[in-house]
Amino acid sequence: MSFPKKCKEDVGLEDSPYLLHPYVATLVTTKNKDGKANVLAVAWIIPVSVNPPCLALCIRPQRHSYRLLMENPEFVVNIPEYALATKVLYCGRRSGRDHDKFNETGLLQGDAKVVSVPIIEQCIAHIECRLERTVEIGDHILCVGRVVAAYALRTHFNKKYNLAVYKPVLHLRENVFTTTNEKAEDLTHVLEGR
Ligand SMILES: Cc1cc2nc3c(=O)[nH]c(=O)nc-3n(C[C@H](O)[C@H](O)[C@H](O)COP(=O)(O)O)c2cc1C
Repeated sequence: MSFPKKCKEDVGLEDSPYLLHPYVATLVTTKNKDGKANVLAVAWIIPVSVNPPCLALCIRPQRHSYRLLMENPEFVVNIPEYALATKVLYCGRRSGRDHDKFNETGLLQGDAKVVSVPIIEQCIAHIECRLERTVEIGDHILCVGRVVAAYALRTHFNKKYNLAVYKPVLHLRENVFTTTNEKAEDLTHVLEGR
């Protein structure tokens, strides 16, 4: 049986990352050595080892969070639900250099189990990490973290996510998000105060 050949158009090399989306958008918390915490949205994040448990996030060195990570090499990956999508967008479009994103979004800090960096209480799962190594790759830095604690709401995660309950924040591109079983929603109006 022959497969009907269809024509596929070049998307442009700079658009190639978006062929891998949607990615689950996470909220990553960091804290400087004086104790001030920050949060940014991170979609480029993957597990890279099971034993020892490690994950890697890709962040641009210009991010305020990267500076904090260099000061205090710990971070928490917080998993939000779709109900928090507008806050994820806000944390991904404003910098902690000139914004207190916790105050401005109402995201609440809580104590982590192992690291000094706070968790975000409204998120449904948390992965605490110690930064082990960084690798410069083009315009991003691959930050490899050793997982030191991981916990989740039992209603949402029991070995695997329960998609009847958990609605992930899925990032398509720019300010466009979707979740499971729903249409993509452009959240730009939130930034413009409409
Ligand atoms: C959904 C979403 C995902 C993002 N993913 C990443 C990412 O993987 N890496 C990165 O460097 N920036 C990413 N960003 C951009 C940062 O979150 C953004 O520049 C943020 O304002 C940086 O905050 P900071 O300067 O307080 O660290 C993302 C933005 C959004 C909205």
